[in-house]
Amino acid sequence: MYSIHKASPLRGEVTIPGDKSISHRSVMFGALARGTTRISGFLNGQDCLSTVDCFRRMGIRIDLSPDGHSVTVAGKGMRGLTAPDGRIRLYTGNSGTTTRIISGILAPQPFTSILSGDSSVNRRPMGRIISPLGRMGADIRSLSDNGCAPLEINGRPLHGTVWRSPVASAQVKSAVLCAGLYADSPTVLIEPSLSRDHTERMLASFGADITSEQKEDGWHASVKPCEELYARDITVPGDISSAAYFIAAASLVPGSELLIRNTGTNPTRAGILQAARAMGADIRPVSETMQGEPAADLLVRTASLKGTVIEGSLIPALIDELPVLAVMAAAAEGETVIRDAAELKVKESDRIATVTEGLRAMGADITPTDDGMIIRGGRPLHGALIHTYGDHRLAMSFAVAGMIAEGETLLDNAECAAVSYPAFFTDLQRLQM
Ligand code: S3P
Repeated sequence: MYSIHKASPLRGEVTIPGDKSISHRSVMFGALARGTTRISGFLNGQDCLSTVDCFRRMGIRIDLSPDGHSVTVAGKGMRGLTAPDGRIRLYTGNSGTTTRIISGILAPQPFTSILSGDSSVNRRPMGRIISPLGRMGADIRSLSDNGCAPLEINGRPLHGTVWRSPVASAQVKSAVLCAGLYADSPTVLIEPSLSRDHTERMLASFGADITSEQKEDGWHASVKPCEELYARDITVPGDISSAAYFIAAASLVPGSELLIRNTGTNPTRAGILQAARAMGADIRPVSETMQGEPAADLLVRTASLKGTVIEGSLIPALIDELPVLAVMAAAAEGETVIRDAAELKVKESDRIATVTEGLRAMGADITPTDDGMIIRGGRPLHGALIHTYGDHRLAMSFAVAGMIAEGETLLDNAECAAVSYPAFFTDLQRLQM
């Protein structure tokens, strides 16, 4: 149990650890490239270490510095992955991103893979990747016959396809684009709104022929078959999804002024800035950089917040930040409506249900809906026992809620924050001293 009390003002600065999505991709594409990829700012969190472990098992040498933030990947080229005796078992832990994207890489390999994760990952829908990859010729079976992992992937030659994804999902898009690198003709993935585009950016910089454009019927990401990717050095910016907890805490805890260093600001991820500003948050970029991906330092000061509507094409750009935005909404004056976010139900927990349960326990007025929630803000929050359901984003969001609540908030299984932010609670405590 982790105990949180009402916080004193947050002052000083915090440096945000590496972006989880970009860290995963840097190892995956580094493994498939020719030459050595040097990664700095790597997220040394459990999810990314699951990706490292999978590629090491397939014969890729990956070295981590003692602090885990600098990584070298000795890529063996597009056809360099190996499986002893033609069969390999891979464990993806809590990482849906690893499970889905790696499936697109495994589908064309000349071996069989058995892919399994923890109980949360093994409940998450995999039909969304099994269907498009199957259309490309992949042979993927859900071993429990429920559309979830464990998956058996029997490597097959693949064909290009045009696939219309009903959901805006970067994991689905990335799985299909990775498979498309190995196909015999071009592959196009159409999504209703633009999901995070780290795969498109990074694969292009590794030499793949990949494009993205908005058309009348959605966003088209296209990739051509690829003979070889080429290694390059990667600087991973801080994860805006991790910065989100400090944006929320500094906005909510009276008298705070916090400099949040090294926040990735890729527009396909920066919806939190737009939504928080619409609520009245005071967030100012104080320096901006561009190293493959845009980043900035953000100065956040306490502000009085008001309700807003979060919907439509903004949702994919802040999907992981909705739990902490719900906490902000509970403390804001007036009503906040979150809609078009049914995807929340299939994250590390059913986040419509788990956020509702936690905020209600703390005294908030919140109504879950089929595709989001309605929060009537302004009721004072009180401490409560919060079940995180092993969901890292729940643990960190309710840590923020506990900082503005009367009395003690207890988080069960708060250690799950290590999935994306191992030093979260240390950083939070340090800022309050
Ligand atoms: C991710 C994509 C998103 C996001 C997840 C990371 C990625 O999932 O929620 O935390 O790195 O591609 P979906 O693709 O399911 O939307």
